[in-house]
Amino acid sequence: TATNLTTDERLLKICELLEENVSYYNWVGFYFKNGDKNELKLGPYVGAPTDHTIIPFGKGICGQVAVSNENFVVPDVTAQDNYIACSITVKAEIVIPIFVNGENIGQIDIDSNTPDPFTEADERFLEFVCEKVSEIL
Ligand code: SME
Repeated sequence: TATNLTTDERLLKICELLEENVSYYNWVGFYFKNGDKNELKLGPYVGAPTDHTIIPFGKGICGQVAVSNENFVVPDVTAQDNYIACSITVKAEIVIPIFVNGENIGQIDIDSNTPDPFTEADERFLEFVCEKVSEIL
Protein backbone atom coordinates (compact mmCIF):
# COMPACT_ATOMS: atom_id res chain seq x y z
CA THR A 1 0.00 0.00 0.00
CA ALA A 2 1.10 3.58 -0.54
CA THR A 3 2.93 5.33 2.25
CA ASN A 4 3.92 8.93 2.76
CA LEU A 5 7.20 8.78 4.55
CA THR A 6 9.65 11.64 4.52
CA THR A 7 13.08 11.05 3.03
CA ASP A 8 14.62 10.93 6.51
CA GLU A 9 12.04 8.36 7.63
CA ARG A 10 12.89 6.21 4.61
CA LEU A 11 16.60 6.52 5.29
CA LEU A 12 16.05 5.57 8.94
CA LYS A 13 14.10 2.47 7.87
CA ILE A 14 17.01 1.45 5.64
CA CYS A 15 19.37 1.82 8.62
CA GLU A 16 17.03 -0.27 10.79
CA LEU A 17 16.67 -3.03 8.17
CA LEU A 18 20.42 -3.26 7.70
CA GLU A 19 21.21 -3.29 11.43
CA GLU A 20 18.48 -5.84 12.20
CA ASN A 21 19.30 -8.25 9.39
CA VAL A 22 23.08 -8.36 9.28
CA SER A 23 24.53 -9.52 12.59
CA TYR A 24 27.84 -7.71 12.14
CA TYR A 25 26.27 -4.35 11.13
CA ASN A 26 26.12 -2.74 14.58
CA TRP A 27 25.96 1.00 13.82
CA VAL A 28 24.42 2.09 10.52
CA GLY A 29 24.07 5.69 9.45
CA PHE A 30 24.18 8.25 6.68
CA TYR A 31 26.41 11.28 6.37
CA PHE A 32 25.68 13.93 3.74
CA LYS A 33 27.70 16.84 2.42
CA ASN A 34 26.54 19.91 4.31
CA GLY A 35 25.53 22.52 1.75
CA ASP A 36 28.60 24.21 0.31
CA LYS A 37 30.65 23.70 3.48
CA ASN A 38 33.62 21.34 3.32
CA GLU A 39 32.09 19.01 5.87
CA LEU A 40 29.76 16.06 6.34
CA LYS A 41 26.64 16.21 8.49
CA LEU A 42 25.13 13.19 10.23
CA GLY A 43 21.78 12.04 8.87
CA PRO A 44 19.50 9.22 10.03
CA TYR A 45 21.27 6.41 11.90
CA VAL A 46 20.73 3.52 14.29
CA GLY A 47 23.10 2.50 17.05
CA ALA A 48 24.88 4.31 19.82
CA PRO A 49 24.56 8.10 19.67
CA THR A 50 27.71 9.77 18.36
CA ASP A 51 29.27 13.15 19.15
CA HIS A 52 30.50 13.31 15.55
CA THR A 53 27.54 15.00 13.93
CA ILE A 54 29.85 17.16 11.80
CA ILE A 55 32.99 15.70 10.15
CA PRO A 56 35.37 17.95 8.15
CA PHE A 57 36.36 16.69 4.67
CA GLY A 58 39.54 14.63 4.99
CA LYS A 59 39.03 13.75 8.63
CA GLY A 60 38.40 10.17 9.76
CA ILE A 61 37.31 7.37 7.46
CA CYS A 62 34.15 9.26 6.51
CA GLY A 63 35.96 12.51 5.74
CA GLN A 64 38.45 10.61 3.55
CA VAL A 65 35.64 9.02 1.51
CA ALA A 66 34.12 12.49 1.02
CA VAL A 67 37.27 13.42 -0.96
CA SER A 68 38.37 10.05 -2.45
CA ASN A 69 34.93 9.09 -3.87
CA GLU A 70 35.87 5.46 -3.18
CA ASN A 71 34.74 2.69 -0.86
CA PHE A 72 36.79 2.46 2.33
CA VAL A 73 36.88 -0.91 4.09
CA VAL A 74 38.64 -0.94 7.47
CA PRO A 75 39.22 -4.47 8.83
CA ASP A 76 40.85 -3.16 12.04
CA VAL A 77 40.16 0.39 13.18
CA THR A 78 43.17 0.37 15.54
CA ALA A 79 45.46 0.17 12.49
CA GLN A 80 44.14 3.49 11.07
CA ASP A 81 45.83 6.75 12.08
CA ASN A 82 43.18 8.98 10.46
CA TYR A 83 40.21 7.52 12.30
CA ILE A 84 37.49 9.06 14.48
CA ALA A 85 36.42 6.70 17.25
CA CYS A 86 32.72 6.85 18.08
CA SER A 87 32.52 3.86 20.43
CA ILE A 88 35.16 1.67 22.05
CA THR A 89 33.22 -1.45 21.01
CA VAL A 90 33.86 -0.82 17.30
CA LYS A 91 36.43 -3.09 15.62
CA ALA A 92 35.83 -2.48 11.90
CA GLU A 93 34.15 -0.02 9.57
CA ILE A 94 32.92 0.25 5.98
CA VAL A 95 32.01 3.48 4.19
CA ILE A 96 30.42 3.53 0.72
CA PRO A 97 29.86 6.80 -1.18
CA ILE A 98 26.46 7.78 -2.60
CA PHE A 99 26.49 9.36 -6.07
CA VAL A 100 23.80 11.56 -7.60
CA ASN A 101 24.46 12.45 -11.25
CA GLY A 102 28.05 11.30 -10.78
CA GLU A 103 28.63 13.56 -7.77
CA ASN A 104 29.59 12.17 -4.37
CA ILE A 105 26.87 13.67 -2.15
CA GLY A 106 27.20 11.53 0.95
CA GLN A 107 27.76 8.03 2.20
CA ILE A 108 26.56 5.11 4.20
CA ASP A 109 28.74 4.35 7.21
CA ILE A 110 28.64 1.00 9.03
CA ASP A 111 30.54 0.08 12.18
CA SER A 112 31.03 -3.50 13.33
CA ASN A 113 31.88 -4.90 16.74
CA THR A 114 33.30 -7.96 14.93
CA PRO A 115 36.91 -7.83 13.71
CA ASP A 116 37.44 -7.95 9.92
CA PRO A 117 33.84 -8.88 8.98
CA PHE A 118 33.41 -7.08 5.64
CA THR A 119 33.84 -8.87 2.30
CA GLU A 120 33.49 -7.83 -1.32
CA ALA A 121 29.91 -9.09 -1.07
CA ASP A 122 29.24 -6.36 1.51
CA GLU A 123 30.75 -3.78 -0.85
CA ARG A 124 28.62 -4.91 -3.81
CA PHE A 125 25.47 -5.11 -1.65
CA LEU A 126 26.01 -1.68 -0.08
CA GLU A 127 26.82 -0.13 -3.47
CA PHE A 128 23.42 -1.44 -4.59
CA VAL A 129 21.78 0.05 -1.48
CA CYS A 130 23.49 3.39 -2.15
CA GLU A 131 22.23 3.38 -5.76
CA LYS A 132 18.70 2.83 -4.49
CA VAL A 133 19.18 5.57 -1.88
CA SER A 134 20.34 8.00 -4.59
CA GLU A 135 16.95 7.53 -6.28
CA ILE A 136 14.95 8.67 -3.23
CA LEU A 137 16.95 11.78 -2.31
N1 SME B 1 34.52 6.30 12.52
C1 SME B 1 34.11 7.36 11.61
C2 SME B 1 33.34 8.42 12.33
C3 SME B 1 31.88 8.19 12.33
S1 SME B 1 31.41 7.04 13.51
O1 SME B 1 31.87 5.71 13.02
C4 SME B 1 29.75 6.99 13.61
C5 SME B 1 35.32 7.94 10.92
O2 SME B 1 36.45 7.63 11.26
O3 SME B 1 35.12 8.77 10.03
